[in-house]
Parts: sequence; C-alpha cells; structure tokens
Amino acid sequence: MTTESKWWQHGIVYQIYPRSYQDTNGDGVGDLFGIIQRLDYLKSLNIDAIWISPIFPSPMHDFGYDVADYTDIHPMFGTLADFDKLLAEAHQRDLKILLDLVPNHTSDEHAWFVESRSSRDNPKRDWYIWRDPKPDGSPPNNWLSFFGGPAWTLDQTTGQYYLHQFVTQQPELNYRHPEVLPAMLDCMRFWLDRGVDGFRVDVIWLMIKDEQLRDEPPNQSGTSVQMGEYGKLNHIYTKDLPEVHGLIKQMRTLVDEYDDRVMIGEIYEPFEVLVQYYGKQADECHLPFNFHLIISEWDAVAVRQRVEEYEAHLPEGAWPNWVLGNHDQHRVATRTGYEQARMANMLLLTLRGTPTCYYGDELGMEDGYIPPEFIQDPPALNQPELADVIGRDPERTPMQWDDTTNAGFTVEGVTSWLPVTENYKTRNVALQLSDSNSMLSYFQQLTTLRRAEPALNRGDYATVKIVGDDLFAYRRDHAERDSFLIVLNFGASKHQLDLSHVGQHVQIALSTDLQRTGEVDLATLTLHGNEGLVLRLG
Ligand code: NOJ
Repeated sequence: MTTESKWWQHGIVYQIYPRSYQDTNGDGVGDLFGIIQRLDYLKSLNIDAIWISPIFPSPMHDFGYDVADYTDIHPMFGTLADFDKLLAEAHQRDLKILLDLVPNHTSDEHAWFVESRSSRDNPKRDWYIWRDPKPDGSPPNNWLSFFGGPAWTLDQTTGQYYLHQFVTQQPELNYRHPEVLPAMLDCMRFWLDRGVDGFRVDVIWLMIKDEQLRDEPPNQSGTSVQMGEYGKLNHIYTKDLPEVHGLIKQMRTLVDEYDDRVMIGEIYEPFEVLVQYYGKQADECHLPFNFHLIISEWDAVAVRQRVEEYEAHLPEGAWPNWVLGNHDQHRVATRTGYEQARMANMLLLTLRGTPTCYYGDELGMEDGYIPPEFIQDPPALNQPELADVIGRDPERTPMQWDDTTNAGFTVEGVTSWLPVTENYKTRNVALQLSDSNSMLSYFQQLTTLRRAEPALNRGDYATVKIVGDDLFAYRRDHAERDSFLIVLNFGASKHQLDLSHVGQHVQIALSTDLQRTGEVDLATLTLHGNEGLVLRLG
C-alpha cells in the first residue's frame, strides 16, 4: 500500500496492562488516572493507539479477564467519568483508545451467570454451556482448561457441569443461543457510543464449540512445555469452528457502523488458519493478531521464513501486523537477551504491518523474579512445577518510571501488587530520558523515523538475499518516497557482507547503538554483533 492508509495501518499500537502502569491512589494497583498522567510520555513514544487490558468490574480471578459487568469500570481503576476523561485527554493528543473485549466467557459473578446457575429452567440457563455428568459422575467430556485440569466444574446446586477453558470462575458463553451475541453487541455499542476507537477481542478463535461436545483426540504432533497439560489434546472441537466466522462478521458489522474504528482479534494459529480471520470478504477482523515473532525460534533464518510465509499467505487487501510482546508472554528482552532487544524492536518497527509494543519494552524491561510466595497468576498456581515456564507474573511487573522506591509506580510505603523488577534503579524511564544513547532514546528515534517515512509505515516489503545464517535483510519501498534497506544481525559476532546489488554508498538512517551515522559502502558493509541498521536507499 503506497497511497492512503488508515491510522490502524500506518500507526503503532501500545499495550498497557493497567494494573501495572501507574498507581495514583496508593492501593498498589495501577489506575486510569495513572494512565492519564502518563499520556504525554505515551505521546513522546510516537505511538498512535493505546490498548488497555480489561478495566471492567471483576473479581480478578484472572486479573480482569473475568468480567462481571461489561459496561462499567472497576472501582480499583476509577469510574466511568474517569474513563471519559482519559478518552477525551487521549483524543486531544491524537491518541486512540482500544478496549479489551472478553466475549468468550464472563466472570461467575456476572449477573447473566448468577441467573443462569440459579436453576435448570432459568431463561438464561442456556446462555452458558451446561451438561449433565456422565453416569459415573465425571465431566461430560475430556476437554481441558488452558490453565490445567478439566474444562468443567460441577455446580452442586443444579447438579450439572459448566464449561470454562480458563479458571473455574470464567464460565463460557453459549453463542449458539440466539440472545447471547445481541447481548454482547449491546456491550460493544455502549463503548463505541462513548467514543472508544475499537477493541482487542480476547480469544476470538475459541468463541464457539462443537455442538455435540465430542471428546478431543490426543495431540499426536507434539506439544511444548508452555502449553502444559492443555497441550495433550488436539483441540479440534473447541477452536476455529466454522461457525465462529459468522459471529465475527456480526461484530465487525457493528464496528463498521462507526467511523474509523478497529477490531483486532487474539488468535494463536498457523498462518493458513490465522488469515481466515480477515474474512472471505475482508469482513471479519481488521487485524487478526500475528504472534509469530513471539512463537518463532529467535534466529535470522526462522524469522525470515516466518516473515516470508506470512507475506505469502496474506489475502488480497489484508493488512499485516506484528506483535513482539504481551501480558501472556515472557518479555522480549528476556526471550532474545537484552543485547538483542534493540534489534528486535527495529525488526518490529520496520516490518510491513501494524506493530504492537508491550509497555516497558521501550526500556528493555525484562521478566521480573517472582518469589514462589508472591505468585498470583492462575496457571502458575495450578501447575506449580511449570510456574517458571507458564507463569505470567514475570512480564506483568510494575512499569519502571524512576529509581525511587517502587520505581515510581506507586507511592512510598505501599506494596505494589507484584514486586518491582530488581534492575529498576538502572533501567527506568527517568534515567533513560536523560541519556541520549539509551534504549528509550533509541526507541523514540526509531518511531520518529517510522512515522516520518511512508516506505517504513506503509511501503512494500521484499526480502534481500543475503549469505550467512545470522543475518536478515529486507527492503521497504514506496513509489514516491525514499526506500530503505534494513539489515539485522541475530548473532553476537561481527559480519562483513557485500550488498552492492542493492546500492552503493548509502546513508545510515538509524543504527541500534545510535553511534553509527553517515555513509556506508554496501560492497563492504560491516555489522557488529546484535546490530541492526536502517539504511536510506534514496
Ligand atoms: C487471553 C488473555 O490474553 C489472557 O491473559 C487470559 O488469561 C485469557 N485470554 C482468558 O481470558
């Protein structure tokens, strides 16, 4: 795309985990006023949209992903009036606000479920998925929870099991019941009318399950430790069912009734499945989240293959996107090593497609150490032997603002809900803002460059053939503006390469260490270990 583009195409999305961003009322948990206070900082990152993980009333069994009321704000985060203020202040700065919609399940404290579980003949009974036990009293089938253990819990009062693929307090809605989707659309309308710019939709690929509730077969193709017990089955009856696309289309139709809004779907699937979520007529998700930079092996060959595979799979007119981190995955600086975190951000911000950055990754925040007695995340508590691998607390630690107690996240004397990561004294916003070579200064220069250059924020992509397993190079081209060559070294050693087939003497637009500037000769280009260069081809 080299002509007109939408904000959600050329722009950058930044995810805030609100519990951990900025606490202003001294309860150790972040809040909406905290985000308002930091809007100028957010603007200085050259981002375009803020996606905020759930802020709705919730008993917090899954830290907000168990929603008890879709049309209000949890008092811990503030009020509806505070939200309106956030929206107005963000819009004043030309920043969009995306909410996290969790339609697959509610909290067991949601009024719909309270009614549903009250008796077998309650009108809302079938808004959720209830089944009788097997004759021996066991669950209706072998389905598993992502967080370990069976996906069914027996309700003693009515003698039936209900389905939940996450914690037991997250019963799953039954989208085969005709009243459920309209009810969820009403909730979406509530926020769209208030002016939100769109939604990130939680586990959109799981929203509908096999009507016959058939047992899932064992997973024959191997699994990873990260998947825990859930990885033992092949989930053919709980995800990607054909009927899900009809639901998503209706959600999209609603979003399209409003100007310039966006719908982003959370989907962990291979490319051939992922791209189906754009919809056959481009009528489903604007952006089905692409997590392949997170789930891929981290080396130049594997990443190049993923990029090419994705580009090849994208249907006509579908706009790509890339995600480097989120609240469910170990931090990028931990996954790649801190020394590669700048290069990883260069990759994210120069590939073709909308980038999503996770809060703190602009500083190189790493996973925090969570002593066993402080673990809060349900999957880690359910499967303690796997806590180090599957626990999500480490990537949710408080934002590191400065070197005062609690890293400036909350006031002195208050215990933050998760411990602040130990390196906050040397890795924080205040320090990095005062250092023109810091990772944060680098991030700001990178996003400034991306914003200024149409080739980088909407131009075409082409791999550049290169010799050497550590290196990945590609071009970004725009018909009327400068083109760029990006060369990334995924290895720790220095390489010299001949890229004279691409050009001769070219300018360094940005280097990961910010030290290299001026002209380079592409016939004898050197790349230091872990280095990335953005080169202006003219
Ligand atoms: C995906 C969310 O990103 C994750 O944090 C949550 O636990 C599950 N969905 C359940 O809502």
